[in-house]
Amino acid sequence: MRKILLSLLLMPMMAWAGSVKSPNGNIELKFSVDNTGRPVYEMTYKGCEVVKPSFLGLELAKDKHASMGLQEHDLMDGFTIAKEETSTFDETWQPVWGETKDIRNHYNELAVTLNQRWLGKRPVSANGAQMAPRQHTRTIVIRFRVYDDGIGLRYEFPQQKELNYFLIKEERTEFAMAGDHTAWWLPGDYDTQEQETQETKLSEIRSRMKEAVNWGNSSVAVFSPTGVQTSLQMKSDDGLYINIHEAACLDYATMHLELVDAETKALTTQLGGGSNAYTPNPQPSPWPLPKAFTFVSHLTPDATGLKGCMQTPCETPWRTVMVSDDARDMLSSNLILNLNEPCKLEDTSWIHPTKYCGVWWEMIVGRGSWHYTNDFPSIKLDQIDWSSVKPNGTHKANNENVKRYIDFAAKNGLDEVLVEGWNVGWEDWANMWKRDVFDFVTPYPDFDIKMLNDYAHSKGVKILMHHETSSSAQNYERHIKEAYELMNKYGYDAVKTGYVGDIIPRGDHHYSQSMNNHYLYVVKEAAKHHIMVNAHEATRPTGICRTYPNLVGNESARGTEYEAFGGSRPDHTCILPFTRLQGGPMDYTPGIFVTKLSEWSDNTSWARITLAGSLALYLTMYSPLQMAADLPENYEKFDDAFQFIRDVACDWDESIYLEAEPADYITVARKAKGTDNWFIGGKCDENGHQSVIKLDFLDKGRQYDCTIYADAKGAHYETNPQAYTITKKTVKTGQTLKLQEAPGGGFAISLIAR
Ligand code: NOJ
Ligand code: CA
Repeated sequence: MRKILLSLLLMPMMAWAGSVKSPNGNIELKFSVDNTGRPVYEMTYKGCEVVKPSFLGLELAKDKHASMGLQEHDLMDGFTIAKEETSTFDETWQPVWGETKDIRNHYNELAVTLNQRWLGKRPVSANGAQMAPRQHTRTIVIRFRVYDDGIGLRYEFPQQKELNYFLIKEERTEFAMAGDHTAWWLPGDYDTQEQETQETKLSEIRSRMKEAVNWGNSSVAVFSPTGVQTSLQMKSDDGLYINIHEAACLDYATMHLELVDAETKALTTQLGGGSNAYTPNPQPSPWPLPKAFTFVSHLTPDATGLKGCMQTPCETPWRTVMVSDDARDMLSSNLILNLNEPCKLEDTSWIHPTKYCGVWWEMIVGRGSWHYTNDFPSIKLDQIDWSSVKPNGTHKANNENVKRYIDFAAKNGLDEVLVEGWNVGWEDWANMWKRDVFDFVTPYPDFDIKMLNDYAHSKGVKILMHHETSSSAQNYERHIKEAYELMNKYGYDAVKTGYVGDIIPRGDHHYSQSMNNHYLYVVKEAAKHHIMVNAHEATRPTGICRTYPNLVGNESARGTEYEAFGGSRPDHTCILPFTRLQGGPMDYTPGIFVTKLSEWSDNTSWARITLAGSLALYLTMYSPLQMAADLPENYEKFDDAFQFIRDVACDWDESIYLEAEPADYITVARKAKGTDNWFIGGKCDENGHQSVIKLDFLDKGRQYDCTIYADAKGAHYETNPQAYTITKKTVKTGQTLKLQEAPGGGFAISLIAR
């Protein structure tokens, strides 16, 4: 109790030991240790509080193997400042693919070396006598990087005698908010991010939590009534946009945030994995509870309940706080990429932006199947002679259907065709706790792998590989080399992986340190084979695509597939760029033209978007990998609108966010890589939006052939989604375009330089 009072009394009177400002001076970061030796930081923007004084530290777990009881002392207090070093960094680098050709990485840094000293337990000698307690000393570094658009901070653990191997019980990084901000949040969950975003005040998170959870997902593990995910976008009452996320999550568990609100009694620590509704055996943290509106980091446990198994020298990921009084800065920020290491691949010539279609949507919607036969209640891969099995007639990855998609891709200039359900094992693939679920090399009898790849290549198209792992991660690791050799043999250069269901080894979670290491292993192994990776259901990205640019996509959020599972709100795509996309591109799989699925299937679900709005997503949802997800026959009905998907680029020299407000609207102009052509996209929520675009970014003295794909009068995402107009004109710099976006709609514009 005394400790709690002391901390509360001391924090407001903090004498700051060090401070560093952003290059433009708008952001200031201050650091100190309080009377008990707890590290504290604070962050302001143009003099306004963004993060109020907040503690930093880590609770350690007892290690049954550790000697000398070093784990019994947390890395939380008892620190003194040994050294403070400031420096400046300014460089411009070129991503292999991206929203802009050049990225400036400009920050001021404060690195604080902290010593922690404490008296250990009194050792007992061989004859039972108590000896004098030993003095222990450990050193850690807390590094802050302050940019014009936010900060990054991380803990570093140099190799040393008294800190060699250690286990993390919980990281206690605090983010004390200055008010009851509006937040766009997802329930904190160790296994899924496929929920609808909630928009509430911080104080309303607790009461909204139960209805916010996606209980129907095939793997759910929520841990707290106030736990939320990152990237978390907020807006303060006085108009500050604040975003908390992380960068470079490598060899570490994914971070969630637990909000301390008026009802919080204690912060808890998860013990043991495998939960599916809040923490089953909560252990109250012995450390003082921060004030209301403070977020505290909450890491994903592994199957044993541990949150990190560390070996020095090592460091945590960067904890990031972005801030601006202009929402567009949230979208143009490169803070997360900048906090990642430069590219580690020597040769990147084989990595390329990709537009693709796929044998996919018709299965998701329910008109066809991934599996080949209905004749087995369960299968053991090595005990079936597939050539004598009776086909079910609904299997879509068959030679004829795949050729149809290849022809469509070739005709329309699409680079690749995804084919799901090509390999044996789909008969009992999901949620069976089945270890040996796929071998990733044996095609079904009606998928002639050689013939189809030869056919595709003869038409200038590639087949995009699919490896659903069913979350049997070790099974994938066992087969990965053979699987990638098969891909090399037939000329595949990209794989979509998937992690549906609970993780095997059982008890582990999708976002634990061990699973994050698995995803990275896959990306590195793929790079050795010159394969690009698009991982579904894997952990949310934290910018590691800078270091490994063959990670060209992730799902890690609620994608278009949910339009076939009951639908997503029309504002969903006006939130994702502020949240999920902060860490890297999303394989959102846009482009649904026939939104009422009952028009061609038995599925009564429908996509909450207009056709023109669908085109906008190719601009507003940045990704070097873009799918044209609808069926070829649906595109053929709207071939004049499909022209935009044929034309649009997916790699850019320049991007300018023209308008933005979270969950309301986003408008962006992008200049296609290596050309003088521009494309503009605008997407809005259920209320519609009037967009005013000044074409002052176009080259002076140049004329552009402009094609505008817009919502027609009366268009509406529910009642009239296919009402669009296509207008052609000539434009030049200085002109203004005014566009009315329908409810749930948007527009797309191509500007081809003459
Ligand atoms: C879920 C993925 O998001 C989806 O795209 C895929 O088709 C299925 N899993 C099957 O792997
Ligand atoms: Ca998914």
